[in-house]
Amino acid sequence: MPRRCRLLLILILALLSAFSFHHKLRQRAQDLHRMRKTYKKLSEAECLQVKSLVLNSTRNTFDRTELFSVMKELQGCSWEENLTEREKRRSQFMACCNASHTLVLTQENSPIGHIIQYDAEIRSRNVTEDLLHMFPKTSPFSKPIRRCAVVGNGGILRNSSCGADIDKADFVFRLNFPPLNWTKDVGSKTHLVTANPSIIIDRYGRLLSHRKPFINMVKAYGSALVLLPAFSYSMNTDVSMRTFVTLEDFDMSSKVVFFNPKYLQKLSSYWKGIGLRFFRMSSGLMVASAAFEVCQKVTLYGFWPFPNDLEGIPIPHHYYDNVHPKPVHSMSDEFYQYLRMHSQGALELKLGQC
Ligand SMILES: *[C@@H]1O[C@H](CO)[C@@H](O)[C@H](O)[C@H]1NC(C)=O
Ligand SMILES: *[C@@H]1O[C@H](CO)[C@@H](O)[C@H](O)[C@H]1NC(C)=O
Ligand SMILES: *[C@@H]1O[C@H](CO)[C@@H](O)[C@H](O)[C@H]1NC(C)=O
Ligand SMILES: *[C@@H]1O[C@H](CO)[C@@H](O)[C@H](O)[C@H]1NC(C)=O
Ligand SMILES: *[C@@H]1O[C@H](CO)[C@@H](O)[C@H](O)[C@H]1NC(C)=O
Repeated sequence: MPRRCRLLLILILALLSAFSFHHKLRQRAQDLHRMRKTYKKLSEAECLQVKSLVLNSTRNTFDRTELFSVMKELQGCSWEENLTEREKRRSQFMACCNASHTLVLTQENSPIGHIIQYDAEIRSRNVTEDLLHMFPKTSPFSKPIRRCAVVGNGGILRNSSCGADIDKADFVFRLNFPPLNWTKDVGSKTHLVTANPSIIIDRYGRLLSHRKPFINMVKAYGSALVLLPAFSYSMNTDVSMRTFVTLEDFDMSSKVVFFNPKYLQKLSSYWKGIGLRFFRMSSGLMVASAAFEVCQKVTLYGFWPFPNDLEGIPIPHHYYDNVHPKPVHSMSDEFYQYLRMHSQGALELKLGQC
């Protein structure tokens, strides 16, 4: 073979092998990418097995690695509603707690002369004419709602692309005035938002002076109900009532409603009764439980008490910041309860991308 031909051949071979190497690399990158998003599809029998493992265990059965591998397996099973399980659980909630009538204080369930017992302190307050005017006449939840999204604030929502899914719900619950500018991941609709009064105390000076920044913040939630635990701790009562008045003064379309401490107390007994241990329920658990009762279908987003995602990649504590609150709630015990309900087919717990 002439020398020039040999050189050409070598060049072609080199190009070919470079191309194939590049191709392999790209393939591998794509596979990795896909692995991050999709999980090995499990057979029906395997799914039944992993679900019953969750149901027959407690959180303490697993260490973190085992729990993560169980959750990854669950990602390989499509979630199916089980109406039997759903209705069984719902009737338990209705019997204990009756959220549709008692979640918030109303003129109907707390008329003048009614004594409100605080749920976190030994203290009570009589319903007077002035207080009565701050309650809606009847419960906003007396009619069942079809599809609800309960949006926790976990960092797992980052890059989830769940926004459109969330906004498709008939009713969207959110927690603690979260920023909504991550629309692609968290959606933009809100029908109810809770607030820990400490936010209003710390960030908005108890609404004693400049109230405009607070009003501008609340505008992001449209005509949502703002649900406050006014009668859990006495230090929250005045600021909660001031929040009610402020939204009224500024003719806001959103309205303040107050958690009924009787509901919270009964709900707390319900969860303790089935073995959940906590000092105080998180507001996520309060709202998810109420939604479960008043909605026909509940999907939970952004509930995730771990510092890494399912792949072990570190994620921020909230989707909007990495500030850790004081650890007063038993988030991972609560989380295991959601995982159980997911495995039963009673509600859907979204952990991956939408
Ligand atoms: C739903 O749950 C019930 C009670 O646990 C069970 O007997 C039934 O097989 C389940 N149905 C489906 C479709 O999985
Ligand atoms: C909930 O409370 C309302 C008002 O007291 C009552 O009419 C309704 O029957 C209760 N529901 C349940 C399931 O107990
Ligand atoms: C609340 O009402 C009860 C009886 O109706 C009365 O004895 C009590 O003094 C009242 N408490 C307050 C703080 O007004
Ligand atoms: C949302 O706003 C916060 C605070 O202004 C900012 O740090 C964050 O980057 C914004 N997020 C998006 C997705 O724009
Ligand atoms: C989200 O995606 C962006 C861009 O791909 C990436 O830089 C960022 O690290 C991701 N955040 C999380 C928490 O995964």
